[in-house]
Amino acid sequence: MILIDGKKAAAELREELKQEVADLKTKHNKVPGLTVILIGDMAPSQIYVRNKEKSANEVGLKSEVIKYPDTVEEKTVLEKIEELNNDETVSGILVQLPLPKHIDKQKVIETIAPSKDVDGFHPMNVGNLSSGYESSVPCTPLGCYLMIKKIEPNLSGKKAVVVGRSNLNGKPMTQLLLKENCTVTITHSRTKDLKAECLEADIIVAAVGIPELVKGDWVKKDAIVIDVGINKTENGLVGDVAFDEVSKVAKALTPVPGGVGPMTIACLLKNTVECFKRSQK
Ligand code: GUN
Repeated sequence: MILIDGKKAAAELREELKQEVADLKTKHNKVPGLTVILIGDMAPSQIYVRNKEKSANEVGLKSEVIKYPDTVEEKTVLEKIEELNNDETVSGILVQLPLPKHIDKQKVIETIAPSKDVDGFHPMNVGNLSSGYESSVPCTPLGCYLMIKKIEPNLSGKKAVVVGRSNLNGKPMTQLLLKENCTVTITHSRTKDLKAECLEADIIVAAVGIPELVKGDWVKKDAIVIDVGINKTENGLVGDVAFDEVSKVAKALTPVPGGVGPMTIACLLKNTVECFKRSQK
């Protein structure tokens, strides 16, 4: 069984990006810039944002974090986004989610210029991705996709089952696999026989937020299994896949932690570089 090392894959991607940023600096005499807006003091968001900033600096991006208290008015945030949209030194804008209740998430997402939307959440990017046009792609599914491609470069005709239909993961993951000519089944909590669906799959991406849902006898021998779940349980952090059981049948499997997580941040940096390159065309 191949244990997919997300930390190593992310380090390799960061190394490639570092070189690319250095080349872009030589060519354009400037570097891509990432601005993250963090509202409130939720511990997980603080940790994510700190990691994003650290990784951005590591590859040589210009990185900035703008912090607001959770009492900030929506208008203040929207005006700041407008300002960043018009700032040439900013290639990518990310507003860390979740947001306080009084701030309309969709309004925030739609205020970010699609060309600077490094999360790929803007409806314009969602539409472009589903039409097969150039777009920013949400970081987590992009990371999953790159890891799958490393194991199996030719995905054409493979059966993929995506468990979970969120805008953040399941739906964009489905689009990426479709683009690779997979036959994709998207499943969710109302799917009648999830086990039977999973047993058909050459590739399973579990992104549903249910601890250890995907069992060993749900997985076909030699399937590739990607676990997007991060669930806090009495036994510590576990994914959406029953790791020990599934590792006995799968060809390749991502661990939790150390699988998808590190690749998500590296893909944010990749998206920032891509936004910069498109802005220089
Ligand atoms: N919070 C948790 N994951 C994400 C993400 O991918 N993007 C943003 N903006 N916020 C998040």
